[in-house]
Amino acid sequence: MNIDDLIVGFDRALRTLASASTSVRPYPAEQAESADLGEDEMAHAAGLMRVNHSGEICAQALYSGQAMTASNPVLKGELDQAAREETEHLAWTERRLEELGARTSLLNPLWYAGSFAMGAIAGLAGDRWNLGFLSETERQVEQHLGGHLDTLPQGDARSRAIVSQMRTDEGRHAQMAEDRGAARLPLPIRAVMRMTAKVMTTTAYRV
Ligand SMILES: [Fe+2]
Ligand SMILES: [Fe+2]
Repeated sequence: MNIDDLIVGFDRALRTLASASTSVRPYPAEQAESADLGEDEMAHAAGLMRVNHSGEICAQALYSGQAMTASNPVLKGELDQAAREETEHLAWTERRLEELGARTSLLNPLWYAGSFAMGAIAGLAGDRWNLGFLSETERQVEQHLGGHLDTLPQGDARSRAIVSQMRTDEGRHAQMAEDRGAARLPLPIRAVMRMTAKVMTTTAYRV
């Protein structure tokens, strides 16, 4: 790690938290038409999409932290690339929240800081563990998004289109890490990751 990495990391943090993200790929909800949603359905969809937006803030932060401390330059580059890909998810969830007339989580700076620190620790553990952390994160997110598809209002075709594209992408990210030799993390670490994610998702649904 050197001072340049730190500056790049800090710059990305500010941009992630402050500015609207952009997407290269088309918005997955473009062709989808949501039914007229009731007030409760709107609020529920907004809560879930706020959770997903915060999840993507965490993904950015994790990858940036991991890239900062990774010693292998090839992996460092791949992690930077992955972080950029996640900005599309950030853009999509942000846009859907706007459409739903809802805001992003007020605690995003907190989620970012915590995730960045976790990523930096994973990066220090060496490539196999760093990749293992990546694959476990992506698999947990993939599962979590599957759960959202079960609970999002059936009529909310727009949110559903976004979430299912994200789920496909996260599965691909996990596969990439596994193909590169990711270690399987020990059960206690996986459990702690699940618990941490639970705190974030429960809070971001409301705040
Ligand atoms: Fe993502
Ligand atoms: Fe991902």
